[in-house]
Amino acid sequence: MTYGFIGLGNMAGAILRGMHRSGAFADDTLCGYNRSERKTLALQEEIGLTPCESAEAVARAADVVVLAVKPQTLCDVLPAIAPLLREAQLVVTIAAGKDTAFYETAFGRAIPVVRAMPNINARVGLSATAVCGGAYAGPEHLETARRMFAAVGEVYPLPEAQLPVFSALAGASGAFIHLYIDALASAGVKAGLARPFAEALACQAVLGAAKLTQESGEHPIALLDQVCSPGGTTIEGVHTLKRLGFESAVQQAIDAIIEKDLRLSGV
Ligand SMILES: NC(=O)c1ccc[n+]([C@@H]2O[C@H](COP(=O)([O-])OP(=O)(O)OC[C@H]3O[C@@H](n4cnc5c(N)ncnc54)[C@H](OP(=O)(O)O)[C@@H]3O)[C@@H](O)[C@H]2O)c1
Repeated sequence: MTYGFIGLGNMAGAILRGMHRSGAFADDTLCGYNRSERKTLALQEEIGLTPCESAEAVARAADVVVLAVKPQTLCDVLPAIAPLLREAQLVVTIAAGKDTAFYETAFGRAIPVVRAMPNINARVGLSATAVCGGAYAGPEHLETARRMFAAVGEVYPLPEAQLPVFSALAGASGAFIHLYIDALASAGVKAGLARPFAEALACQAVLGAAKLTQESGEHPIALLDQVCSPGGTTIEGVHTLKRLGFESAVQQAIDAIIEKDLRLSGV
């Protein structure tokens, strides 16, 4: 099976490198086209990607056509490839904010479409990717998409209606974590640590807490209780965060992302 990417930017690059690294996809099954040539040549050199000369060439050549351009660029790409697509192909789209019906309407035929929502942690093999099938996608199409995205992390089949909350929790929240790591590191610097060391400690704390929660299967609050000795130092910090509205700020930030996502996708 051949996989052809239209758009070879940050996300496509991360997915293609992950597919290459996984060893589950032969190099000659990966091809792609990008508007500017530089990214194509870099991927050709790095992972053996076969360059295509246009989006149309990808649509002609690939069994799985992956749409990895920005949502606002889809209006250039879809009319060009629509007449060339065949029902035996699969279109996988990672563009945010456009539902499967949008593509089905643009194609005007029973072309199977799977919408996937990965995130940039795909660069380190730790994406959480949601996949959902459109009206013409069957279990075999979802399985093809699952195999692709399993190369860059965990994959979760989901109803399309849950994509906004999924993308807030699994994707956008990564920005909160970066903010948190920076705030922790900066507090360490204020208290006298060198910045690189403070950052390393903050990253290790986030990694460790996430892994402990995942592997212990315990409720996060049960784990929190275990590190808060009565009258100790940690509970002082936890109370300070609560008093300053930490949990409410996180909740409101997720609500705001979901609301904006729904507004942009016109729901
Ligand atoms: N970044 C994320 O965390 C993330 C997460 C989930 C989903 N997504 C979705 O992934 C898609 C790509 O995002 P990205 O962050 O990878 O963006 P990006 O780095 O800007 O990549 C988009 C690429 O598309 C290329 N392009 C533009 N018009 C084209 C055309 N007509 N034909 C072929 N290639 C064209 C651009 O080429 P140039 O080099 O010429 O600009 C660029 O390399 C978006 O739809 C986004 O919603 C992104």
